[in-house]
Amino acid sequence: MKKIAILAALMTPLMALPVVAEMSVEDQIETRQSAYQFAAWNGKKIKAWAIEGSEEYSEQDIIAAANAIAAVANSGMGTLFSRDSANDRAENTRLKPNFFNELDNVKKIAVSFAQESTELQKIVADGDRTAVAEQFNKVVDTCKSCHDNYRAD
Ligand code: HEC
Repeated sequence: MKKIAILAALMTPLMALPVVAEMSVEDQIETRQSAYQFAAWNGKKIKAWAIEGSEEYSEQDIIAAANAIAAVANSGMGTLFSRDSANDRAENTRLKPNFFNELDNVKKIAVSFAQESTELQKIVADGDRTAVAEQFNKVVDTCKSCHDNYRAD
């Protein structure tokens, strides 16, 4: 009887795990790739106006793009990275396994990605092109530092 009670107590937190924990490795990979691609697609719109000057300013589009990037950055993507989803164990992914040996650094990058994207979201509202370009570059630096370390070529 006692044994069963202890077992039940141990099981409860496991059963309270979020739904995402049940995602298949394939779904984790597809979801994170789509999320990054979506962020990149939105980043291109900001880049075209703020850095390349190849697009006219559209307040609505730039604000929407910054909101989308910030939403990705703040969405808690960590749950889409299980050890089994790295490229030494899974197919169709560029995630390097060293990601899981360097979680402190990964976390630092992920927090910067979220903070710099949230800052960009605030700055775009003013429509100051130089300020947006500067802040956009800070966001891109966080993308790059993650790719340089944890994304295979
Ligand atoms: C915390 C680390 C991290 C951050 C931050 C990050 N990425 Fe990535 N990105 C990855 C990894 C890892 C992959 C490979 C995912 C896979 O193949 O499973 C990837 C893949 C991609 C891809 C390819 C998607 C595909 O279809 O295969 C694009 C595009 C991309 N990232 C753009 C960006 C942009 C733009 C940013 C910043 C706005 C960004 N990423 C921020 C780690 C990161």
